[in-house]
Amino acid sequence: MRATPKKLVAVLATAGLLTLTAACGGDSGSGGGGGDSADVEVFTWWAEGSEKEGLDALVKVFEEQNPDFNFVNGAVAGGAGSDAKNVLASRLQTNDPPATFQAHAGAELTDYIEQGQIEGLSDMYEEKGWNELFPEGLLERLQQDGEIYSVPSNIHRANVVWANPAVLKDAGLDPEATYDTLDDWIAALKKVDAAGKIPLSVATDWTQVHLLETVLLADLGPEGYSGLWDGSTDWSGPEVSDALDDYATLMDLTNTDRQSLDWPDATQLVIDGDAAFNVMGDWAEAAFASQDKTLGTDYMAFPVPGTDGVFDFLADSFTMPVNGPNPDGTEAWLDTVASAEGQEAFNKAKGSIPANLEAKTDDFGDYQQTAIESWQNDEIVSSLAHGAAASVSWLTDVTAAVAKFGSDGDVASLQEGLSAAAEKNQS
Ligand code: BGC
Repeated sequence: MRATPKKLVAVLATAGLLTLTAACGGDSGSGGGGGDSADVEVFTWWAEGSEKEGLDALVKVFEEQNPDFNFVNGAVAGGAGSDAKNVLASRLQTNDPPATFQAHAGAELTDYIEQGQIEGLSDMYEEKGWNELFPEGLLERLQQDGEIYSVPSNIHRANVVWANPAVLKDAGLDPEATYDTLDDWIAALKKVDAAGKIPLSVATDWTQVHLLETVLLADLGPEGYSGLWDGSTDWSGPEVSDALDDYATLMDLTNTDRQSLDWPDATQLVIDGDAAFNVMGDWAEAAFASQDKTLGTDYMAFPVPGTDGVFDFLADSFTMPVNGPNPDGTEAWLDTVASAEGQEAFNKAKGSIPANLEAKTDDFGDYQQTAIESWQNDEIVSSLAHGAAASVSWLTDVTAAVAKFGSDGDVASLQEGLSAAAEKNQS
């Protein structure tokens, strides 16, 4: 039987090991979140803009479903958890967990499992009938050795290009065009460059990793790309060299102020008509929608050239931390996250699609309908930049290599860095 947080607290107390918790836990002695026992601190990186609007929609359902609990926002800003994950790691190390935290399905979740930082939830799944509520393939990415460890809130697609049709038209391009290959697309980007607009907007390091993953997917194909994570594709081989050349060409066509921007700024360049294209996960859909933009008129969305028919997947999920401050509150949050009502409200606002198979999506936007279809019919691969494909430490090493390339532009050294990262982290 699994050790519940309450049981673990009891064990630690008996062993006289609770001093650290008490020292870190705020005035109520309730542990990491501090405050009232009704408080449920939810740790995410949905701190601002359209992501916060998505979180707010979920919180509204939580508050309606759980009037006795008090949502406490523990969000730490920074796209893709670029800052949040470090803050979380140090809180977990000092035994100061929030009531629940956001974690990506897949390899990232495995990290928390292996470090013994999150509780198994299989009993909860059994009791609440959740095993039938989510797609099997997704549940597999939430477990280790048959035990499930988190509750998925959504499914995002990473391999999407967002485009401004007016900018394309001004550059002499067909705004309706999609591109079969990266080469075709690069030719279009060069036309935008000649017309004096930013061809491809990008932001800080993690968004460059995101771009790189979609280029690897386009050039290696789904099988070759997936092989990067299980060792069957050689990071130092010629196919990866070609993909990195394409990546270098694309990076040459991006905005020079990229290091000072995060994803909302890069997407905003497209919304405002300063850039033609942006490669971003479909949380960007929420940014367009929250500014009342219409797909097909104000913006276009299509799979990254060369990746049509593939869904580059990631999912956010919520955990029950070991020795969390308020297990009942955590359970209440997980109930809302799992519920059809919670998933409908949250995903509609977030740009993602529900993980809950019973959630209704008829009134979701046009873009989201395309994602639903792609998720059902296309080949699914795991996102690197968003925790599905590789561990946190592997992603950290990839990010360092990509950041170095951003300043020195040395393709050979990028490939060496990526190969070394794979060698070090591949299990
Ligand atoms: C998360 C999304 C989030 C995006 C940008 C991804 O890692 O899964 O929920 O919107 O990062 O912050």
